[in-house]
Amino acid sequence: MALLKDLGSLWWQVSNNNEFTIAVTISVIIAMIIWCTLSLSSSSQTLPPGPRSLPIVGYLPFLNPELHKQFTNLAHTYGPIFKIYLGSKLHIVINTPELVKVVVRDQDEIFSNRDLTVAASAYSYEGRDLVLSNNNANWRNLRKMFVHELLSKKNLEACSSFRRYEVRKTINNIFSKIGTKINIYEISFSTEANVIASMVWENTYVKGTHDSDFGAELQMVSAKVNEIFGQLNLSDFFPSLAWFDLNGIKREMLRQRNKLDKLMTGIIEDQSKEKSQDGVGDSAKKDFLQKLLDLKDDQKDPKSVNLIQIKALLSISYYTKEKKTTRRYPVFKPERFLTYDEKNKWDYTGNNLHFFPFGSGRRSCAGLPVAERMQMFVLASLLHSFDWSLPKGEEHDLSDRFRTTLKRRKPLVAIPSLRLSDPSLYN
Ligand code: HEM
Repeated sequence: MALLKDLGSLWWQVSNNNEFTIAVTISVIIAMIIWCTLSLSSSSQTLPPGPRSLPIVGYLPFLNPELHKQFTNLAHTYGPIFKIYLGSKLHIVINTPELVKVVVRDQDEIFSNRDLTVAASAYSYEGRDLVLSNNNANWRNLRKMFVHELLSKKNLEACSSFRRYEVRKTINNIFSKIGTKINIYEISFSTEANVIASMVWENTYVKGTHDSDFGAELQMVSAKVNEIFGQLNLSDFFPSLAWFDLNGIKREMLRQRNKLDKLMTGIIEDQSKEKSQDGVGDSAKKDFLQKLLDLKDDQKDPKSVNLIQIKALLSISYYTKEKKTTRRYPVFKPERFLTYDEKNKWDYTGNNLHFFPFGSGRRSCAGLPVAERMQMFVLASLLHSFDWSLPKGEEHDLSDRFRTTLKRRKPLVAIPSLRLSDPSLYN
């Protein structure tokens, strides 16, 4: 709807110019004729059924902000697999575990590419980072690095001190706010994001010259990036218009990407200098960035990485900070997942295709080992250390809201009171 509003105001601005109006009207008529001809000639393709769409804009004007509910309703009408056109782009929606299996298992190789928005492409050096890369040698290399270097069992054990430190810091922080309202969502995810950031560049960050300005700038850029990711972009629905960048999203994302790039280049240069000066490369405990720089220098190692790949891997810490906060699936009625297959009913790692919050198949969440450790640890620590109550007069609100993923409509806010008898346990 916002898109149509934008289109409406754009039209209003230019409609005073007669020549322009005539030219655009003729172009639109020609485009509609081409569109109708193409859709008639392609109607013989075997595509699943789907709702009727308008020429050019497709189903866009009928999209509802509650997309997940709308898709459920469409599935009731059109069955487990249906199509919709958003602008000129064809989308296929699947709705059963059997079809999911075909996509994430049987035909995984074909379906494991990413369809990048213009913003995502600009942000990820044209799809060269781990999350957004297509299924190719670059992605395999990055994923191997991420899983085997950063999140290996050994490294995760070695980083348990980071987890303890961050969780203690959080508990201490809540202790200082006893009796006040705490946003559980924010506090648990910022703890998790800090742990990831420590694992990625703890040594560099602590030893380096990067001060609070650096942290503040990083946060500002990350927040801006996140904001751009949330904006509608005409170019995504009409790729033929992408060249004009009508919403200015590509331009703005590239600006932020360059700022981020500069910040990372600074960190990488500092670390490289330090390495050549005092041989930090030999130190027993290296953070992820230090390991990546070792691999960059070792061209004979098949896992060797280039500078862009290093920057792309470092950007995972922003995803965790800014985007992963939208990834958590709401709890609503968790018991609904337990009515399936007895053996797999508790499984959330991708084997149970009725419930796979971390995805399934080769593109499933690479951060699962750290996510499951952190979620459990944070939740248990919050419950162990405090009693929690809702603010006076408020009730649990478990209603949802769809953005890039499903979120609670209202964040969970609760008031802590002391649970442990000895206050020193909160330090
Ligand atoms: C509760 C927390 C989390 C949930 C529910 C979650 C869920 C997901 C989902 C659904 C995907 C997409 C799967 C697909 O495309 O099929 C994904 C991808 C990914 N996640 Fe997570 N995630 C979480 C935490 C994390 C954390 C903490 C990290 C980093 C340490 C992380 C790193 C990644 C990466 C790198 C990918 C892309 C993998 C690829 O494309 O190969 N995730 N996650």
